[in-house]
Amino acid sequence: SKPKVFVTNYNIPKKGLDLLKSCEVVQWQSEETIQREDLIKNVKGIDALFCILTDKIDGTLLDACGPQLKAVGTMSVGYDHIDMKACKERGIPVGFTPDVLTDATAELTVALLLATSRRLMEGAGAVRSGEWGMWNPQWMCGQGLHHSTVGIFGLGRIGLAVAKRLRPFGISQLLYSGRKENPAAKEVDAEFVSFDTLLSESDFVIAGCALNSETKEIFNEDTFKKMKPTAIFVNSSRGGVVDQKALYEALKSGQIKAAGLDVTTPEPLPTDSPLLDLKNCVVLPHIGSATVEARNAMAELTARNIMAALNGEQMPCQIE
Ligand code: GLV
Ligand code: GLV
Repeated sequence: SKPKVFVTNYNIPKKGLDLLKSCEVVQWQSEETIQREDLIKNVKGIDALFCILTDKIDGTLLDACGPQLKAVGTMSVGYDHIDMKACKERGIPVGFTPDVLTDATAELTVALLLATSRRLMEGAGAVRSGEWGMWNPQWMCGQGLHHSTVGIFGLGRIGLAVAKRLRPFGISQLLYSGRKENPAAKEVDAEFVSFDTLLSESDFVIAGCALNSETKEIFNEDTFKKMKPTAIFVNSSRGGVVDQKALYEALKSGQIKAAGLDVTTPEPLPTDSPLLDLKNCVVLPHIGSATVEARNAMAELTARNIMAALNGEQMPCQIE
């Protein structure tokens, strides 16, 4: 009989689903995020799970699938929603989607740098509201990227792609920090520094790290205090790396200049979040990888990961 695959979201690109045509595919049909109880109900007896980053995958869920489960594939590069220890203990390989979303996410990160430093949302708002009175020599001025020092915390695939895109803007210095040096840093002339140095020297501080026990709320009251009052903080990784209340206070008090966030806690960010009252904060709805090309490729890779495991082969992109 055909292997059963449960797909947790109704809106997966067809290019990905097409690759599962030899399977019996059951797909969550609601436009609402699948809730935990429904997920547990729907995974019973499946051979593979095609999930997204809003699904929490833990031991309880894996056990609810049953012993015939052979693969989990997440259509994301981040896997902080997956308990990898629980998967390993049960011998379940987990596929993810690195590389195919790197360019799209790096591009969006650069867009956030520009949106914040050149005050794009504020400016566009002023045009609409009529607050734009005249061409004014010292109105709506920002810092710009040219001649700036940029610090990237976590120079991985995406961080490096951001760095490559920033060089042509004429930034003067590129710093990075993290657990260890990245040999590829020399391609972009990035200097490995301590986290404290990165915080105190950078005009732009970019969170490019994965969310894990070491990086949870690593951007907090203490770290915002170490940044320049002109610093701009940009996060396109995971909301959980930021103590969001501390960020709000830092933005409100002028401890730092501005922030650009593609990710928040929670998501969606409630419309009454105080962050949304701040002119110096740009919040986007987790769209880093949201190009047609990247999302198609992510769906295809997730399906290929799952099919490989179902066929007893190594996944093309398996989480170690
Ligand atoms: C998006 O946030 C991803 O992890 O792919
Ligand atoms: C600006 O539009 C200028 O002409 O300097």
